[in-house]
Amino acid sequence: MIELQGLTKRYGEKLAVDGLTCTVRPGIVTGFLGPNGAGKSTTMRMMLDLDRPTHGTVLIDGQHYRQLRDPLRTVGALLDAKAMHGGRSAHNHLLCLAQSNGIPRARVREVLDTVGLASVAGKRSKGFSLGMGQRLGIAGALLGDPQILMFDEPVNGLDPEGIHWIRNLMKNLAAQGRTVFVSSHLMSEMALTADHLIVIGQGRLLADTSMADFIKQNSRSYVRLRSPEVERLLDVLAGAGVTAVTTEDGHLEVDGTEAAELGELAARHRLVLHELSPQQASLEEAFMQLTAESVEYHAHSAPPGADAPPDAAGPPGVAAAPPGGGWGADWQKKKGS
Ligand SMILES: Nc1ncnc2c1ncn2[C@@H]1O[C@H](COP(=O)(O)OP(=O)(O)OP(=O)(O)O)[C@@H](O)[C@H]1O
Ligand SMILES: [Mg+2]
Repeated sequence: MIELQGLTKRYGEKLAVDGLTCTVRPGIVTGFLGPNGAGKSTTMRMMLDLDRPTHGTVLIDGQHYRQLRDPLRTVGALLDAKAMHGGRSAHNHLLCLAQSNGIPRARVREVLDTVGLASVAGKRSKGFSLGMGQRLGIAGALLGDPQILMFDEPVNGLDPEGIHWIRNLMKNLAAQGRTVFVSSHLMSEMALTADHLIVIGQGRLLADTSMADFIKQNSRSYVRLRSPEVERLLDVLAGAGVTAVTTEDGHLEVDGTEAAELGELAARHRLVLHELSPQQASLEEAFMQLTAESVEYHAHSAPPGADAPPDAAGPPGVAAAPPGGGWGADWQKKKGS
């Protein structure tokens, strides 16, 4: 279990983490979400005593990290996959970690097998691809067979098979009763992996709740209906005091009434329905809704050059910019000049 109490980190003017109080529990996967710069990595660094809190505390199974007798056997973490000596082979990198933490040599081979790097164990890690580096970082986290595991964006760079593998790995680790804390920006992946969510924005706690409640509380759920007798359906709904909104494509959307109730109402009036489907927003929609105000780094929705005159022609040999400039129009002009 990891307990944060009023955890705060200030870098000069910047309040990176602002009074976080929450608990990461064993037996489940807890997802850690927040927009870029929200303070996730800083929080994780403070959990591992890599950064000193300005205020507040982190307790790992009731102790400060520096009080742990065998840190790597208590907490395994992947924070930055590149944080290793590139000149060392994967095997030697793990062996160094094992020997300095009283972990038997045989465990190195085991974790290399687990992460699928046994065939490149003798290769220097500086030649590794992004995904191979992530796998080696994950091997390091697993090395001490710890009860608490922490991963900062572990699926970054992994191929589909690797993503599937780490999803199952995290679920299995949690099912064994371990504490698994993982950050990711891949919402669809998080929705499949995490049971509980801690969401922060600009360093502050925005939500600490189960995945199901998070989606329910931060998004709209409604029922979608389609019928060849849409006018009569609207009358029947209105007669029952149900408000429906007609969409551009001719569907009806109803808030606040269960699909079963709507189906029975339609049946009582012998109305044909071609669709009656409860719609639940995705984790991504719920996340965007909750964090909209705390996003610090916005991309421009219009591509650069979008305000260029519609007749802006590119240089010879370069396709004319589409109306409104188009992506790369400025760059193409420079390239052609
Ligand atoms: N060593 C540092 N010195 C100064 N400012 C820092 C330092 N580390 C982090 N920050 C600042 O603290 C804030 C939180 O950064 P952090 O890396 O924790 O965010 P994050 O949630 O992990 O973001 P991302 O999703 O982009 O990884 C940012 O504004 C960042 O610039
Ligand atoms: Mg980060």
